[in-house]
Amino acid sequence: MDYQNILVVLDDGITTVTVNRPDKLNALNDETISELTHAFLNLPDGTAVVILTGAGEKAFVAGADIAELVRMTAVSAKDVSAKGQLLFSTIEGCSVPVIGAVNGFALGAGLETALSCHIRYASELAKMGLPEVTLGIIPGYGGTQRLPRIVGLGRAIEMVATGQMVGADDAFRMGLVNKVCAPDELMGECRKLAGKIMKNGPIAVSYAIDAMVRGANPGLGEGLAIEEILFGLVSSTADVKEGLTAFLERRKAEFKGE
Ligand code: COA
Repeated sequence: MDYQNILVVLDDGITTVTVNRPDKLNALNDETISELTHAFLNLPDGTAVVILTGAGEKAFVAGADIAELVRMTAVSAKDVSAKGQLLFSTIEGCSVPVIGAVNGFALGAGLETALSCHIRYASELAKMGLPEVTLGIIPGYGGTQRLPRIVGLGRAIEMVATGQMVGADDAFRMGLVNKVCAPDELMGECRKLAGKIMKNGPIAVSYAIDAMVRGANPGLGEGLAIEEILFGLVSSTADVKEGLTAFLERRKAEFKGE
């Protein structure tokens, strides 16, 4: 497959997958989600570790593409959620370790991308959040399920209900990222981590991650199904049209709760 929106480069056993739409802050449009899913299902032969990152100085991934979301109906929204959930379950279920190199904004689908990685390192400049409710929608790509599992229910509810971002240091304190690095050292630190992992038995690493991920996630499938249905339902409200249009028109949304 010829990718238009991502770069896939294998070097010394490490495959770097880069979301490459820097002019849109690497927002995940439908085509990018298809390409990422294809890439993770067809990693280059010889891949021992994957590093997932975003192109440019500013963003890891700034969310789902709002210009596309604004065209959703309740029914298509449910399909949109299912497609994104499939991508992130594919990343989380990857047979090699996946390291998220969070190099900037990781918002909405961007944080959901990072949450699906097995390990996250962040740049000092990274900002992370699930701002969906500020648009009138809910996280629909697994964020309602994976964020509480990683940072605890109380912190997750605070982040989701306020929609506010946290900086890299706060993210580190709450266990959302494992390490904070200077921006120009982030990729090097991720490669160092990959190198440490690659010294070990690859089958053992793969099985141990599989056991931890599946063991830590009882009820994940049920939670994702609830999220998918509620993402579809909320997308039928007037508030969603207002929230998404307001973002595109660069104004503050006025929600009416209908
Ligand atoms: N979907 C589509 N386009 C997006 C986007 C998204 N999620 N996030 C950013 N962009 C686009 C902007 O529309 C803009 O495009 P344009 O230059 O063609 O107008 C470009 O990326 C740069 O973004 P801009 O908003 O001008 O940068 P900024 O530095 O002022 O603000 C953010 C950066 C991340 C705070 C801001 O872009 C933002 O809030 N993005 C949306 C985050 C979000 O709510 N994500 C969850 C979606 S479910």
